[in-house]
Formats: sequence, C-alpha cells, structure tokens
Amino acid sequence: MTAVPRDNRPDIADLLTFYASAGVDEALEDEPMNRFAEAASKPPERAPATVTPPTGEKGAALPRSTSVSRAEMGERQAAAPAVRAPSGTATVPDEAQAALARQLAMTAATLDELRQHMAAFDGCNLKYTAKNLVFADGNPNAAVMLVGEAPGRDEDIEGLPFVGRSGRLLDRMLAAIGLDRTSAYIANVIPWRPPGNRTPTPHETEICRPFIERQIELVNPKVLVNLGGPSAKTLLNTTEGILRLRGNWRVHTTASGIAIPAMPTLHPAYLLRTPAHKKLAWRDFLEVKAKLRALG
Ligand code: URA
Repeated sequence: MTAVPRDNRPDIADLLTFYASAGVDEALEDEPMNRFAEAASKPPERAPATVTPPTGEKGAALPRSTSVSRAEMGERQAAAPAVRAPSGTATVPDEAQAALARQLAMTAATLDELRQHMAAFDGCNLKYTAKNLVFADGNPNAAVMLVGEAPGRDEDIEGLPFVGRSGRLLDRMLAAIGLDRTSAYIANVIPWRPPGNRTPTPHETEICRPFIERQIELVNPKVLVNLGGPSAKTLLNTTEGILRLRGNWRVHTTASGIAIPAMPTLHPAYLLRTPAHKKLAWRDFLEVKAKLRALG
C-alpha cells in the first residue's frame, strides 16, 4: 500500500467510525482470493452422511427418489457447468444449484432435516462470506411465522434472526400484540448474511427460495407475516411495492397447495429509519392479532 504522508493522514478513529456507520464492517485482503480453488484442493471436511428420505409430514408434497448423500451433493455441485463472472472469478452455477436446493428442500421431512440440508448445501455464494447459517428463532409450533429478508451483522455473529437493532424493535412490535419468541417463529428468505449487508441478488434469492418455502410448509403457521418488500415479493409472487402491499391480506400457497393467510408489513429496519410509518405497522400487527383470534 502507498504510504500516506503524516500531515495528510486522516484521523484513523474517525475514519473507522465513518466506515462502521456506513456499514463497512468487513476487513478484506488487498489481493482477491480464489476460495473455490482453495476449497477444491482441501480434503472433504465432512464424513459422507445420507440425507434420509422423508416419511411424509402434514402438507408435504414429496418426490419419489429422495436419498441424497453429501458426497452426491458434492458431485452434483462439481458436475454443474462452470459460469465465469466478467472478472474471471468462478461463481457458483445458479441454475444447477437452484435445482439442487429445490430437491434438498423437498426431501427434508422435518425442520431439523431442513437445517441439516441447508448447512450441507454449498450452492449459494453467500455461504462463503457468512460466519453462520441463520436458520430460525422462536417456536416452530407457533401460530404465526414472520419472515424477513436476510441476516445482518449481529444475526450472522449469533446465528439467529433479528437479534440486532431491528430485532429489538421487532420484539417490541410482537409484545404490542401479546407475542414473543416463545409464541412466534422467525426466519429469513436468505439464511446467510450478504457481505456488507448488500441486497441479495435475484439469483441468490432464487437459490434460497426453496428452503424458506419448505420451512414455511413444515411450520405450517396459521398466519405468515412478511417483514418488508423482499420477503413479500419473494413469498407472495408479486412485484408490487411494500407500501402498496402492506395492510392487505394475501395468500402464500405452499408447494403442496396449503393456503396460508399472509400479512405484508413494513420491515423493522425501515421503521427505524422512518419512525413516522410505525403507525402503519401497528395497524398491520393489529390485523394479525385479530386474524389469530378469529382462527382460534
Ligand atoms: N433484517 C432481516 O431482514 N433479517 C434479520 O434477521 C435481521 C435484519
């Protein structure tokens, strides 16, 4: 690196504070590293483990040939045609990986199996920069399931969704309608933190979509709450903006055809930036409370 003359050196503490407040919280190397080449030269870390076929759980539409070993997963990942980004960096081939994600999601008969399949799945680039898989928090038997977009820094560190500032606001929103993490189940569309909290790409969302759809199907909540536009758009198959969508009941239909009432609402992170809109989210949460009461 070029040395900065002492007189022109910015105050390092101020600079770091500025970076942190701008969301720059990853220290990267000066030179790019090819992690794929690194991974290819390493011996496999995990012993081959068989992903057992599903025994059939409520509402599950399951394919016939369902046994996929981790070794087989690796082979399929390796067999997928390589796609090169303009920079020449190898990227995970998207279509093949989305197909594999769909198969793995469908063959998970329980939430535990789904978590295992996701932990073993190497087909999403985001996994390589994230510290942890952020699967879910809360009660899987809850009547209400809330789905956000993707983990942030705090969630990545703890491996749990909504534990940072937005999570604290979400907890207060839940408390306002008499709920907490023992009576609600919380997950994200994307289970790995995008580096620097960037917006997940459409390909990343498509690769991860089967996992969250299966998670919803396995939890089978009475009511789904979509926190923010990306969750609403992905799970309600719409391109409408969240300010138009919010406050109106929609339906999320699972792969096996179960129709779950869904309430799109504003994301807590948005509400932290736009507190004047908290009253809108408050109305949406009252709708959720009324629906839960009506559905018993
Ligand atoms: N924002 C999200 O969408 N999900 C989290 O888990 C945290 C912040």
